[in-house]
Amino acid sequence: MTTVDLSEYGADFTADPYPYYAKLRESGPVHHVRTAPGNEAWLIVGHSEARAALADPRLSKSPSTAGFRMLDEEVIGPNLLVFDPPDHTRLRKLVAREFTGRRVEALRPRVQRITDELIDAMAPHGHADLVGALAFPLPITVICELLGVPAADRDAFRAWSTEIVAPTGAEAESAAVHGLRAYLDELIEDKRCAGPADDLLSALLRTRADDGDRLSAAELRAMAYLLLIAGHETTVNLISNGVRALLTHPDQLAAIRADFGLLDVAVEEMLRYDGPVETATVRFAREPVPVGDTVIPPGATVLVGIGAGDRDPARFPDPDRFDIRRDTGGHLAFGHGIHYCLGAPLARLEVRIAIRALLERFPSLSLDPSAGPLDWLPGLLMRGVRRLPVRW
Ligand code: HEM
Repeated sequence: MTTVDLSEYGADFTADPYPYYAKLRESGPVHHVRTAPGNEAWLIVGHSEARAALADPRLSKSPSTAGFRMLDEEVIGPNLLVFDPPDHTRLRKLVAREFTGRRVEALRPRVQRITDELIDAMAPHGHADLVGALAFPLPITVICELLGVPAADRDAFRAWSTEIVAPTGAEAESAAVHGLRAYLDELIEDKRCAGPADDLLSALLRTRADDGDRLSAAELRAMAYLLLIAGHETTVNLISNGVRALLTHPDQLAAIRADFGLLDVAVEEMLRYDGPVETATVRFAREPVPVGDTVIPPGATVLVGIGAGDRDPARFPDPDRFDIRRDTGGHLAFGHGIHYCLGAPLARLEVRIAIRALLERFPSLSLDPSAGPLDWLPGLLMRGVRRLPVRW
């Protein structure tokens, strides 16, 4: 067995991992990799194998399968992404009762208003960091309003959350997880005392299934944590990766400007071509799991390459071409199977509104040529840039 040391690939790999994944895929759909000194895993890079792995019950989401616990699970409590059925089924049912399509659709006018206000604030300047000016504040405002997190707490929340999804070091990550736990305990206690309200957290605090089942205090804290983190870190990067793809493909941009009816399919291509989640959250083999000619051994950590799978030429012909009219059916950007993204309708709503408003208000929008090289988020989980300088 050869181990591919991804940590040796350096900055080029972080900035553009797709040629590396393509090279790996040529020699097989799964590889044993080192992601950092002392961290080894099996990385799946083929589309059909990745899709199958995301829905494979032999690959557990519970770190206890491999004999350890994750930091956030330890400190904040286990969330949907570290549970298998039947626990996962139970929790997902409880949250799905409240996080409904109707609740998301009701946010549409508010999402439009927040977007318009952010763009109004950008307009006089002629240039901006798109992440700071729109891609970050829109989803964080929406998820905080949805859950009922006060506006004044959002900056602290941003710092914790960014550190957790793309850690800069063990100490900083631990401080962020502990900070967020204390914050959530206080927030939930405030909501408990305040009585019923319209926000999702208040609804989850009181929700009761037909059989009387409810979320425990730790389950509620972990659910709030997951929704807050998953609810914005990803959407931020879809807006900025999507806009970057458009601005570097003028023909595709022109096609959308000529017909905004193409925007919905274009967003699906943005998800496929350069989605925000590069590899799915970790899975652990319960038993030997054959993938292609390789057998992943029991107890091994498995990384499902979403970005890699979505550039597999066996599923998407000429996969490195950004083509808003292509058939993107079966892309893996929101995952697949029982852990399929709970927030996909909200993410799509926000990104469609944001990109349309941006293109309509700034007909000459372009990347800022005077800006230096892009600063990419570290790690294999999130794909995105810290800043995206643009001008108009
Ligand atoms: C463009 C934006 C988004 C992308 C690309 C995305 C992607 C994903 C992916 C790939 C998974 C599956 C992870 C796995 O199987 O390992 C997932 C799960 C999840 N996402 Fe999202 N997500 C986005 C936005 C959101 C939003 C806005 C929310 C909530 C408001 C959200 C909440 C969740 C939750 C709760 C799960 C766990 C579901 C479960 O385990 O049953 N996501 N997401």
